[in-house]
Amino acid sequence: MTSSPTQPSPDQISLAEAVARRRNFAIISHPDAGKTTLTEKLLLYGGAIQQAGAVKAKGEQRKVTSDWMELEKQRGISITSTVLQFDYAGSTINLLDTPGHQDFSEDTYRTLAAADNAVMLEDAAKGLEPQTRKLFEVCRLRRIPIFTFINKMDRPGREPLELLDEIEQELGLACWPVNWPIGSGDRFRGVIDRRSREVVLFERAERGRQSAERRLSTSNPELATLVEPDLLATALEELELLEGAGADLDLPEVHAGNLSPVFFGSAMTNFGVRPFLDAFLELAQKPTARQSSEGDVDPLRPGFSGFVFKLQANMDPRHRDRVAFVRVCSGKFEKDMTVQHARSGRAIRLSRPQKLFGQEREVVEDAYPGDVIGLNNPGMFAIGDTLYSGTRVEYEGIPCFSPEIFAWLRNPNPSAFKSFRKGVNELREEGAVQILYDTDQSKRDPILAAVGQLQMEVVQYRLEHEYGVATRLEPLDFTVARWVSGGWPALEAVGRIFNCKTVRDAWGRPVLLFRNVWNLNQLREDHPDLELSAVAPVVSGVEPIAL
Ligand code: G4P
Repeated sequence: MTSSPTQPSPDQISLAEAVARRRNFAIISHPDAGKTTLTEKLLLYGGAIQQAGAVKAKGEQRKVTSDWMELEKQRGISITSTVLQFDYAGSTINLLDTPGHQDFSEDTYRTLAAADNAVMLEDAAKGLEPQTRKLFEVCRLRRIPIFTFINKMDRPGREPLELLDEIEQELGLACWPVNWPIGSGDRFRGVIDRRSREVVLFERAERGRQSAERRLSTSNPELATLVEPDLLATALEELELLEGAGADLDLPEVHAGNLSPVFFGSAMTNFGVRPFLDAFLELAQKPTARQSSEGDVDPLRPGFSGFVFKLQANMDPRHRDRVAFVRVCSGKFEKDMTVQHARSGRAIRLSRPQKLFGQEREVVEDAYPGDVIGLNNPGMFAIGDTLYSGTRVEYEGIPCFSPEIFAWLRNPNPSAFKSFRKGVNELREEGAVQILYDTDQSKRDPILAAVGQLQMEVVQYRLEHEYGVATRLEPLDFTVARWVSGGWPALEAVGRIFNCKTVRDAWGRPVLLFRNVWNLNQLREDHPDLELSAVAPVVSGVEPIAL
């Protein structure tokens, strides 16, 4: 049976249903805000784990099942981001993990290129913190919707209005509280659900258990026996103030990344997590059209397409295998399908696609827009590569983000130069680290540039164990990098500049390195016309300079 253009085929219907069901997000937060705890509670609701504690992945508790790196085991940390998929209330949710602490790396930023939504998690006592701000900036580049969860309300925190004001003033992100807290710390009594005007009472649940959720209308007289009248009055007054400010929960504004729905809760005591998840599913953006060289690609485009946002190497050191993580953007992906690799123009059969759940892997039969699959990578994939079937598409690449740690990479053994060169080129291609070069061509050693210290250690470790070259790092005293938007002509036009070092990136573009933000600001003041960017524009069609 053939279907007419007005009648979608069964395949199109199932694709449309799968897309409508999917929600994908990443959590952006500063270490210790409670990301692990919140993730665990979300998975508990999704039935993906049976007991709390299963996600806890710190120190000795972590069971390394992938066995991928001695270093990872030694440090007891997870080096790379993981993806967790779970079903809840008829939706399929993909949670892209963004590592924090010392394992913060460019992967963390790149993961956000694969996310359709972000949950910004704040500690109520601390408000905005440095890592959250950085990750927020990356979300802002793509204008993805941001949902804010203000955590640890069971502990003394800052004034809720002050926390919102900070987000609005500092990030330029308008807030729309979906619920409003009644008291905090020892006197935290619950929240008022702004849309239903019900009070959701806080009851301390046993750790990891689902607390019973008791709701009462704000006009119910029984409330007076459960909540101190002064606390309730204050919360209601503040809510009036917010209503007076007039903004509506405007969904297009949320989806444009201009307005953040805000939730107050406590992940540890499991208060407010389920209402948050329900509202998130209602308000979050479904997998949407994505920019490509051929214009926006709709997820319902019948042909499969996706892009590589992350590579993980050496999951099994004996085989030097690599897994490429692909975000599905359109069409249905099926095991064993043959796709085109846009950059090389080659056809590849994807015979062992994997579905990932944290560290566990299983072969996946199919996947839909919003999902992430892991592909065995025989060295052919690079960050940003597009895979497609049907008509050709190529997605915009993933930019390089401003590194903050710099070091000369020295190879003390000249006879190992060939391996050194091979290793450096391959690791750069893979996106393990950025490589910069001195403008003085006689200084041939590369400068490693990274956003996290661990990236440096991983590069050295891998050079030694995979390429047989022991290297030495000589740290450089810079913390800020900026690309010159107008390239060399713009830089030459301003003449001599002070208190910064000019280097070249792998595409020969000028990059300025500063010791601190103060020096950067000074240059900005001296040369207001010199346009600088913290993110390197994506280059397409040009091969980078190899070492
Ligand atoms: P992270 O992944 O963002 O780094 O944070 P994580 O979930 O590990 O939480 C950091 C600490 O904050 C943990 O305490 C955790 O129990 C606590 N926490 C998380 N959510 C809440 C909350 O809603 N209320 C309160 N009071 N605490 C919360 P820890 O002492 O470091 O670890 P643990 O011994 O509790 O596991």
